[in-house]
Amino acid sequence: MKDFRTLTEIAKAARENLSDGDWDYLIGGADTETSLRRNRAAVESWVFKPRVLNNVSQVTTASTLLGTPMRMPVLLPPIGSIQVFSSGGGVDVAAAAAEFGILQILSSACEPDFEAVAQAVPGPRIYQLYLTGDQAWMDDNIKRALDAGYTGLCLTADTQVYSRRERDILKRYVPLSGRTATTGTSFNYQASMNWDTVAHIKQNFDIELMIKGVMTSEDAVSCVEAGVDMVYISNHGGRQLDHTRACIDSLPEVSAAVAGRVPVVVDGGFMRGADVVKALCLGADFVGMGRLEGLAMAAGGKEAVRRALDIVEQEIQISMALLGAPGLEHLGPHLLERQQPLSDSHALSAFPLLAEGY
Ligand SMILES: Cc1cc2nc3c(=O)[nH]c(=O)nc-3n(C[C@H](O)[C@H](O)[C@H](O)COP(=O)(O)O)c2cc1C
Repeated sequence: MKDFRTLTEIAKAARENLSDGDWDYLIGGADTETSLRRNRAAVESWVFKPRVLNNVSQVTTASTLLGTPMRMPVLLPPIGSIQVFSSGGGVDVAAAAAEFGILQILSSACEPDFEAVAQAVPGPRIYQLYLTGDQAWMDDNIKRALDAGYTGLCLTADTQVYSRRERDILKRYVPLSGRTATTGTSFNYQASMNWDTVAHIKQNFDIELMIKGVMTSEDAVSCVEAGVDMVYISNHGGRQLDHTRACIDSLPEVSAAVAGRVPVVVDGGFMRGADVVKALCLGADFVGMGRLEGLAMAAGGKEAVRRALDIVEQEIQISMALLGAPGLEHLGPHLLERQQPLSDSHALSAFPLLAEGY
C-alpha cells in the first residue's frame, strides 16, 4: 500500500484503481444527482466561528454507541457490493473498524456474507438487512445475525424501491450483488416495510434497532415512540430520492425532536474531519462516512481504510483544538454560522487539490 498522508491521496488512488463503471457506481447518485450535490453544498455552507484561550492541550473524542466504546464519533455505513472496490469486502472494513475502535454497519448486499464476516473478525457489529423475503425469512435472518454475534440491526427505510442511477444505467453497469434487494421484478418486501415491521422486531428480538433514512422530526419521533434504539438521518448519499433536503439540514430539527432519548447519526456528504465536527455542532452524536469508506477500500483495502480513519481522527482533533473545544460536550451550534459555499459543490469537492493535479 502507498504511504497515504492525506485523504486527497486516498481519493486519487481510488480513481486510479477503479474502472469507470465501478467509479461511477461509488461516486454517483440518483437522477440529476441534486440530492448528492446538495448534501455537499450544505456541509460546505456551514462555517466555523472559533473560540480562543480555552486550553485545548488535551482533545478527547471518545464516547460509546449502543454499549460499544467508540474512539471517535464516526461510523462506517453499509456499502452494498463493497467487494468490487477491494476483494476482501466487508471483512476488510470490519477488520479496519475493529482495529481502530469504531463500529461498522455491514450491508446484506455484500460478499462475503454477514456470517462469514463475523467469523473472520470478532467484535460487536451492526447488520443492515434489506428485506428480500417475508416475515419468516426476516425473523430467520435476524436470529442468524444474533447467533453470529451482531449486536445491532439496521433497517434502511429510504430504499422502498431502487432508484434510477443514470451513470450506471448509461454504462449498463450491474454491481455483483447490489441489486438483489429492490429490483422490483417480484413482490418487493422492502417497499412493504412499515411501522408494524418495527414493532414486530422490537417485540420478538433482543437486538439494538436503528432506522436509517429518517429525514424529518415527525419520523424521528415515531422511531423513538416505537422503541427504536438509534435514529439515523440519511438520504442514502443522494442515491435514492432526488431533490431531498440535505442531511445536515435535517439535523437541528431531528436532534431537537429526539431530545437525547436515543443517539442520532447522520450521513451524507461528510468527507473530512471538519465536516464531522460541523455535524456534531448541529446535534449529531455520530457521523457516517460512506463514500470515504468506499474510496479508501478502492485505494488499498483494509490498510487504506485504517489509514483514512487515522487521518480523519487527526483532522477532527485539530479542528476541535482550533475551535477551542477540548471535548465533544463543548461543540454546539454557537460555533457555526451559514454562508455561501465558495465553489460549485459536488461529490469530490472535499478534495479541491485533485483539480490542481495533486
Ligand atoms: C457504493 C455505495 C453503496 C451503498 N450501499 C448501501 C447499502 O447496501 N445499504 C444501505 O443502507 N446504504 C447503502 N449506501 C448508502 C450509505 O450507507 C450511506 O448512507 C451514504 O454513502 C452516505 O453518504 P456519503 O457517501 O456522502 O457519506 C451505499 C452507498 C454507496 C456510496
